[in-house]
Amino acid sequence: MKIENSLPCIQLPEAPPQTELQFTVATEDDFDDIMAMSQGIYGGLDYLPTRYGSWLQETNRTVILARKQGKVIALESVVVIDDGETMLVEGLRVAPQERGKGVAGVLLRYCSQMVKAKYPEVKVSRLTRDDQLGPKEFQKYRLITKQGILLVRFRAEDLKLRLAELGPNVGISVADGAAPPRAPVRLDPSEVCQLFLSPGPIRDVLPNATIVQDWQPFKPSPSNLAILLKKDIDWMVDDRSSTSVVSLCTFPFRVPIGEDWYYLNIDMFGKDLSLVTQQFVSHLRRHTATLKGSVMCQLFLDPPLWKPVCDFCRNTLGVELVKEYTEQCVVESDVV
Ligand SMILES: CC(C)(COP(=O)(O)OP(=O)(O)OC[C@H]1O[C@@H](n2cnc3c(N)ncnc32)[C@H](O)[C@@H]1OP(=O)(O)O)[C@@H](O)C(=O)NCCC(=O)NCCS
Repeated sequence: MKIENSLPCIQLPEAPPQTELQFTVATEDDFDDIMAMSQGIYGGLDYLPTRYGSWLQETNRTVILARKQGKVIALESVVVIDDGETMLVEGLRVAPQERGKGVAGVLLRYCSQMVKAKYPEVKVSRLTRDDQLGPKEFQKYRLITKQGILLVRFRAEDLKLRLAELGPNVGISVADGAAPPRAPVRLDPSEVCQLFLSPGPIRDVLPNATIVQDWQPFKPSPSNLAILLKKDIDWMVDDRSSTSVVSLCTFPFRVPIGEDWYYLNIDMFGKDLSLVTQQFVSHLRRHTATLKGSVMCQLFLDPPLWKPVCDFCRNTLGVELVKEYTEQCVVESDVV
């Protein structure tokens, strides 16, 4: 989406005239200013330093900056998905000294109008939040789905050793005399399309028929799978023909919390604890095989599974819990 650089100015509510906001489309040159206002964001686990370059290359995405007297004070990114029906809002942030003055609301509304003008077929705006949503938010948004967030940390080398000690069947519960379940299956791109696009067990496992990958909610459609298959993701199921658990593991990427720190995000769908644990361990094994450094691993899973998987992480894997239970909520509102 191309926008003229001379975007209109918008007056902040209840603010003097000199605090007008200007909006510009972000470019590579803005990177340092954006990082400067993003210091400490998400407790040092900001994905934007890694993703910024590729975001600017995506044809269906626009990154908008709000400026005050020329200075960058806020950012939001919008990407059009679901065959043009949905605008997905990501990356929202306001400079710390400008928070609480209505900047986020003005920027959200501005971007929504801008997308609607360019893509009249866009019907809904979706976003994913991990803060506590109250009645005010639920007047504005419909809840599409929610997942529990389990955040643990470890050194990749330590976990690799621990997993080797624990052996191949760790976390799998097997009834007396029964054979252990088969190893989970990693899907290749053609299998991903075949399984996710046909009405079948996978569609029933996905919450509200939504693939949530690393905070991004997608409907399983050919155009969305084309976007997803360009990313570095391991797609896994317990069984191709009668699927109970599906997971998407986004390859580790660096985060600015410290030197050699990586984020490993695993989106898990399904309710069977043993199969969920099995896939979780399988992703951990694969990604700790070569990684060197510290890892923040974020597992998104069905809320009732949070506690038992948390106990498994602490008591069996010996990894450290970073945060108590929080939720990832995918919400949407109509674009009018
Ligand atoms: C969350 C943040 C962007 C809010 O900015 P702000 O300018 O202080 O927000 P204001 O209180 O002035 O405006 C509130 C508006 O933003 C919305 N908002 C607040 N948090 C939001 C969020 N996480 N996602 C989307 N909208 C949000 C509110 O619903 C409200 O909308 P309204 O004007 O329609 O009522 C800001 O605190 C920030 O940058 N925090 C750190 C980064 C972060 O947590 N980003 C959220 C990513 S999910």
